[in-house]
Parts: sequence; C-alpha cells; structure tokens
Amino acid sequence: MLLGVNIDHVATLRNARGGIEPDVLMAARICKECNVASITTHLREDRRHIKDKDVEEIRKLPRVRLNLEMAMTKEMQDIALRIRPHAVCIVPEKRQEVTTEGGLDVEGQLKWAIEFTKPLLEKNIEVSFFIDPDVHQISAVSKTGAPFIELHTGRYSEAFGTEGEERVFDELKGAAIFAQNFGLKVNAGHGLNYQNVKRMHEIPNLVELNIGHSIISRAVFVGLEQAIKEMKTLVETIPLS
Ligand code: PXP
Repeated sequence: MLLGVNIDHVATLRNARGGIEPDVLMAARICKECNVASITTHLREDRRHIKDKDVEEIRKLPRVRLNLEMAMTKEMQDIALRIRPHAVCIVPEKRQEVTTEGGLDVEGQLKWAIEFTKPLLEKNIEVSFFIDPDVHQISAVSKTGAPFIELHTGRYSEAFGTEGEERVFDELKGAAIFAQNFGLKVNAGHGLNYQNVKRMHEIPNLVELNIGHSIISRAVFVGLEQAIKEMKTLVETIPLS
C-alpha cells in the first residue's frame, strides 16, 4: 500500500494568523523528500485552508504527484482542467461541516458525474470518487469511467476499539472487494491514525491511503518528516501475522 499525505491542516494553521507560517510549500517539499506517493490538498469552495495559489505552487514542484480533492462543481472542474493535477478526488462539500462528513452521492447525480469526469479523463487526469462503502454508490461510479474510488473510512475510524468495529470493518472490506470485482481501483481515507491504520492491511489490494489530520497532529510533537516516516512504515510494511 502507498501513502498519500494530506497537508490541508498546515494551511489551517497558517490561516489562523493570516500570515505565511507554517509554509505549505515547505510541507510539500518535506513530503516529497519522504517519497510519499502523492500530496493531497482539498481546495474547498470557501478556501478555508488551502488556497488556489497553494495548489498552483505545489503543482509546479517537480516529481510531485498532486491529488486535488474538490467538489463536483463547474468552478472546480475548470480549475482542475487548467492546473491539471495528476489526480482528482471528487468529494461532497457542505459549508457548515468541520470536515468531509460522508461520501458523495454519485448515484443520485450520475448524469452530472459522467459529464464531470469525461473532460478530466481526456486530459489524462486520474479521477476518483470519495464514497461510503455502499454497493449502490460503487456501481454508480463504475458507470462514470473513473478508474478509482476512495472509500470513506470515517465510520471505521470512529468504531475502532468499540463493539461495532468488526461490523463496520467488514462493510469496508466487502465494499473494497465488490468494487475491485467491477474493475475499480480502491483507495481509502479519513480519520485514519497510527493505531487504526494497521487493519487496512487486512483489506486486499488497497492502492493508497490518504491521511492528513493524524500526521499533521503528530508533526506538532515530532516534526513533519518523522511523522510521515512513521506512518509510511505502517502503511508500506506488511505486518507479520
Ligand atoms: N480523503 C478524503 C477524500 C478527505 O476528504 C480527507 C479529509 O480531508 C482525507 C482523506 C483525510 O482525512 P484525515 O485528515 O482525517 O486523515
């Protein structure tokens, strides 16, 4: 499995004072030095953390794979077609939410999802839909032409260590296998941390995990490089059973 690092919360901290520290581009460079598989940023409609300039600057870094998370709006489609990130992950967005609370309803807006995806694929941008582990949503994505889904691991992360963990984990695993049987490649993310990430190895053929909050939180104490290296080891090393 590969690790993609989401650096949105470096920008959250920067924006708290409205200045230039901590520098998002420096965070991207450290990610690059740690050889992460991709750098993820979510350009939200309200620009609450990452700004357009951040995305443009990260895109210009050589040998960095940029995964741009964005809502399924015309504004974001235009930005992606102009900036041409290596990948986009299409997410739902509500202004009031603290973070991306659930997966996107692709089934309920399939026609727009197909129209949205087509020009991106034509520009060789890899497209992924961020969805809940739900068979209806998976089959909807399989009709869009997008090669990837990213499974929302929020419910699993919340249930980790509780009575409900096994049931939620089985749902996640079943959804990943179901999607792979449709020919989709499967990423996962949201709420993963240094403890709950280990079970992701029990899910076959996951390609990449996108992790942000726990890495940036740990970086406050041990530094970003160390925090990434520790997570990278957990993600890339198959544990001995
Ligand atoms: N994947 C997607 C699609 C997300 O929206 C987020 C949160 O922005 C993440 C992964 C990372 O979640 P976390 O910050 O909880 O690790």
